[in-house]
Amino acid sequence: MKGVILAGGLATRLRPLTLVTNKHLLPIYNKPMIFYPLEAMAKAGITEVLVVTGPNHAGSFLNLLKNGDEFGLKLSYEIQPEAGGIAQGIALAENFADQEKLLVILGDNIFFYNLQNAAESFTKKTRGAKVFAVAMPTESGHYGVVEIDEQNRVLSIEEKPPKPKSNLAQTGIYMYDNRVFDFIKELKPSQRGELEVTDLNNFYVKEGTLECEILNWWVDAGTSFDELLRANNLVAEKVKNGEIV
Ligand code: DAU
Repeated sequence: MKGVILAGGLATRLRPLTLVTNKHLLPIYNKPMIFYPLEAMAKAGITEVLVVTGPNHAGSFLNLLKNGDEFGLKLSYEIQPEAGGIAQGIALAENFADQEKLLVILGDNIFFYNLQNAAESFTKKTRGAKVFAVAMPTESGHYGVVEIDEQNRVLSIEEKPPKPKSNLAQTGIYMYDNRVFDFIKELKPSQRGELEVTDLNNFYVKEGTLECEILNWWVDAGTSFDELLRANNLVAEKVKNGEIV
């Protein structure tokens, strides 16, 4: 299984913090934001990771992360010329994936859940995909909302619905078989002009092969100043309590 971290996008919700830098280079307590998904990849046992970012600050990622040695990873880089959506970013990993399954993590997702067991069992599967969700208030309209059955099979996912069907927010952690690139080729841009990860995941929902695993703790640090601050405070607390280093 190979890894993809998406660190593109315009991060307009965090301006002016993101006017002259990329959101994923902003600090979360004592580390740049992108370190958290990179460390999650290494902990999951992934060794080859593709970092996808926009053209404006790509050099800063190279300066910061280099070849990935410090994380125990072999890093590659790909440029997404415009912020055409998460699924468009994933499409750029087709050659890199080289028929292997993928673990995709959005670069602004902060969590410490160990994905190793999930990655190992997903690797053995013949086909399908997996999303990770967190129980939280979903009325804010910031997240995709996942509805599941008793076996954790996904029944529906809606992108930022006004009336959510559940309290399960879709995180930015996804596992895909290698058919993902064929599905992305069938996607049409949404109303906001993006190839949406939720539309992509719904291909797997339709064939009944999308599973869901529930995380305990997760923050999407890119949604607002308040969530960015919350991520900083929560990580600071965990470091000071010795829960993480
Ligand atoms: O974080 C979880 C949420 O992420 C999910 O609940 C939603 O279902 C999913 O659509 C997504 O929603 P957001 O509106 O938060 O996505 P955003 O546009 O903020 O992009 C998330 C990350 O993906 C961010 O780290 C930047 C990266 N990205 C985004 C776009 C649009 C790219 O690398 N390229 C892109 O074109």
